[in-house]
Amino acid sequence: MDEFHGIDSEMVLYYAARAEEYDDWYLRRGRYSHGPAADADWRADLESAAAWLAARPFRGRIVELAAGTGWWSPGLARLGQPTLYDAAPEPLEKARARLAAAGLTAEFGIRDAWSEPDRSVDGVFTGFWISHIDRGRLDEFFRLAARWLVPGGLFAFIDSRPDPESGALDHRPPAADVQVRRLDDGTTYRVRKVFYEPAELESALGHADFDEIEISTTDRFFVLGSARRR
Ligand SMILES: C[S@@+](CC[C@H](N)C(=O)[O-])C[C@H]1O[C@@H](n2cnc3c(N)ncnc32)[C@H](O)[C@@H]1O
Repeated sequence: MDEFHGIDSEMVLYYAARAEEYDDWYLRRGRYSHGPAADADWRADLESAAAWLAARPFRGRIVELAAGTGWWSPGLARLGQPTLYDAAPEPLEKARARLAAAGLTAEFGIRDAWSEPDRSVDGVFTGFWISHIDRGRLDEFFRLAARWLVPGGLFAFIDSRPDPESGALDHRPPAADVQVRRLDDGTTYRVRKVFYEPAELESALGHADFDEIEISTTDRFFVLGSARRR
């Protein structure tokens, strides 16, 4: 992908190659299982996050950036009319199948999450994308999210908290915000992985055009954020 460079390009290649096995992470299958107790904690946190998302006041046109295999997209499609974007087609095909299986509709498109908005919408959502943003660009991304939104529009995200029982058994924690990820076939890729503190997220959203900023966490694994464009 010519428009991406270095680790940004490697992340897209990684998620394209991981599309078939991506949901193993959510479902705690294979290398992503950490035993019954941790897996039960994980499922409880996933349920909390899904309930939190279902309670967000999303309505109308929703853009989901870096939508991947669309784990959260059915929840969005029950609240409004989502358009799912990702830089890689492979995960988006999984999302398309997931929505069809649920009898839900959405639009789909290949798009860099950093591309300038081409219209205004009522809501923007990202799942596990914020933690892939370079520390020096967090404010920039939140400003971009605000530019997608009509005044009063809703931005929400779900992302990772650092927990040793969150990733694959054979993954080490990130070093200097870079993590080496292995696929089932043994190939490895580097991704940027930044565990932003809730206070950092709140501050960066405040620097962008947002108010009604609410950041919370599930018991162990996830950080949940929402804000309204002024
Ligand atoms: C951790 S996955 C998250 C997928 C999904 N949102 C979820 O919550 O499960 C990150 C996604 O970001 C996509 N991605 C990576 N770089 C991107 C970019 N520059 N623009 C858009 N999507 C990108 C990857 O293809 C991948 O699907």
